[in-house]
Amino acid sequence: MENDIKDIIFSKKEIQKRVEELGVQITQEYADKKPLLIGVLKGCFVFLADISRCMNLDCEIRFLTASSYGFSSVTSGKVKIGKDFDYEIEGRDVIIIEDILDSGVTLSALRDFVTERSPASLKICSLLDKPTRRQVPIEADYLGFKCPDEFVVGYGLDYAERYRNLPYIASLKPEIYS
Ligand code: IMP
Ligand code: MG
Repeated sequence: MENDIKDIIFSKKEIQKRVEELGVQITQEYADKKPLLIGVLKGCFVFLADISRCMNLDCEIRFLTASSYGFSSVTSGKVKIGKDFDYEIEGRDVIIIEDILDSGVTLSALRDFVTERSPASLKICSLLDKPTRRQVPIEADYLGFKCPDEFVVGYGLDYAERYRNLPYIASLKPEIYS
């Protein structure tokens, strides 16, 4: 796996420190609340596992599936939201937990999906952001890092379902995904 890596962009240590900071911030801002964390599968699984353990809050953890990429590295512009969805959003303080905000297509579709179900509040927490790639106006309320405009993997992020288990975030050699 390491042979496919071009550069390490965020190290295990840097990620751990930033995730802890975000968890503390969310703990303070939701001190009197019981937030509903909705993780966007599958990319969120490592980030959500770590950040939720930095939240000293009585929170509920649920998931949604959203896919727009398939096995390609560019967005198809269409978002499929999984139908096996069986929990109440109405009246809840929802925080969507996502791995990366890229074109914004996925998160804006999810934001609309949640908003239609009348949450008490809705915030977006994304580990990474590639602001230069935005096609739809949307920003994260809680952001880990701004990421260079390169395809990255690790810490939950995949290329064709691989590399999710790397403990850091790295760019791939272009020959791997071209
Ligand atoms: P958006 O809809 O273009 O904002 O794309 C968001 C989704 O695309 C993320 O949830 C990821 O699954 C995927 N994605 C975007 N950029 C990357 C990347 O650099 N590496 C891995 N997945 C990515
Ligand atoms: Mg994803």
